Amino acid sequence: MSGLFNLGKQVFAGGLWGLRRFDRWRAGNPPMRSSAAYQFDPYPSFAQMQSRGNILRSYANQGWLVLGYDEVQALLLDKRFSTDARNNRFFYNLARIACAGLPVPMVDKPGLLNLDPPQHTPVRKLVTQGLVKKFITAQTEFISELADVLLDQAEAGSGTNFDFVSKLAQPLPALVIAKMMGVEEQHRGKFQQWSEAIMGAMMIDQPELMRDAAQAAEDMRTYMRPLLNRPAQSGQANLIELLLQAEEHNHALSREEVLSNCILLLTAGHETTTRLLANGLLTLLRHPEQLELLRQRPELMDGFIEEVLRYEPPIQVTLRFVREDLIFFGKKFKRNQVALVYIAAANRDPKKIENPEVFDILREPVRHVSFGHGIHQCLGMSLARLEAKIVFEKMLQRYSNLKLGRDGEIWGMNPFFRGPNRLPLETRP
Ligand code: HEM
Repeated sequence: MSGLFNLGKQVFAGGLWGLRRFDRWRAGNPPMRSSAAYQFDPYPSFAQMQSRGNILRSYANQGWLVLGYDEVQALLLDKRFSTDARNNRFFYNLARIACAGLPVPMVDKPGLLNLDPPQHTPVRKLVTQGLVKKFITAQTEFISELADVLLDQAEAGSGTNFDFVSKLAQPLPALVIAKMMGVEEQHRGKFQQWSEAIMGAMMIDQPELMRDAAQAAEDMRTYMRPLLNRPAQSGQANLIELLLQAEEHNHALSREEVLSNCILLLTAGHETTTRLLANGLLTLLRHPEQLELLRQRPELMDGFIEEVLRYEPPIQVTLRFVREDLIFFGKKFKRNQVALVYIAAANRDPKKIENPEVFDILREPVRHVSFGHGIHQCLGMSLARLEAKIVFEKMLQRYSNLKLGRDGEIWGMNPFFRGPNRLPLETRP
């Protein structure tokens, strides 16, 4: 049985390789995704593809690449496109085989991101009640203290040179969400591990990672179930309590829905914020004149964060599944196809953004779709912006002489996310 499975995997990988080559040839042979040039700077590839059209056919992905700003916004508003992977039988069947009997993460017990209207609408209204501004702002002190603790630990462990990603950018967002959910301090580390494993659910060509993702999602559910039955604590309600209490027209989330959306909030908010923090710092280090400007004019911080979101979006590509045969900007999309929605290319669309290749923290207005658009637009924007502001301010205050470590950064390989997996810093005064 496992021999057959491995043979199938090899045939699948071989076929996919051929189709990818064909797609690349049609797009003008941009650099390979695995090449060092692409990892360092993927944007020339997007520009090259855009020069062939804002919507390109992709045979390897059984669908389309959508690259222009207007096209991306229009697609994300269009209800004929779905986020529910069950609308793509090929993907769903592959995922089910890989998950070997476990529920397919984010599909079989979906959080709101993977629901379409009409199911999505009430769930979004209820989850929004858990992420109200007052509750997010109340996390400021905790985030600030946590950032200090993590930086103190980094310095105690490795002195003035340390890896920003593993010491701060990776743990911080997971620990913040775990704390917001009322998880006790000694168990918060598990959230980081689960979140990282669940990210593997997007790698359809790596069944082992999908299986681990399914297991991690089930483990998190099992751990969290008793937390839903705890009596409410006095003082400010935590995120789980807010989600359990949320009500709209006599409708409330079921306990399993609360769990699904907690898993979504962790996974949607962790990897993305890690990437924003690491991309932001690295982009400043690559543009020392902008770093100096930000040091001199700290009031530019909000503008810097928006510009880095545009310039190096943590989510480069999002997915939609075509629900019915349709015409979109003159192209014939077929039911069951996939649309790869290139947020990263839209943010640099020269028809919409002046000098898109220039990183400029004075840019106004900063147009980007890094938090998505339409009914699924990010619900964690204000938390992500708050964490980023606290961390960047702290880095500039603590380290007057910030440099990229000699070994340089190591880029992550996940095609959906962009950000270094390792970012060595030298912080000696
Ligand atoms: C820099 C950090 C972040 C980025 C770049 C980001 C980006 C995005 C994007 C692009 C989407 C839409 C995806 C799509 O339409 O396919 C989205 C949705 C979402 N995000 Fe974020 N996100 C970030 C942080 C967070 C945080 C911190 C949370 C919560 C703790 C969060 C919660 C959500 C949720 C719940 C959705 C789904 C909304 C819905 O389906 O209605 N995100 N995010």
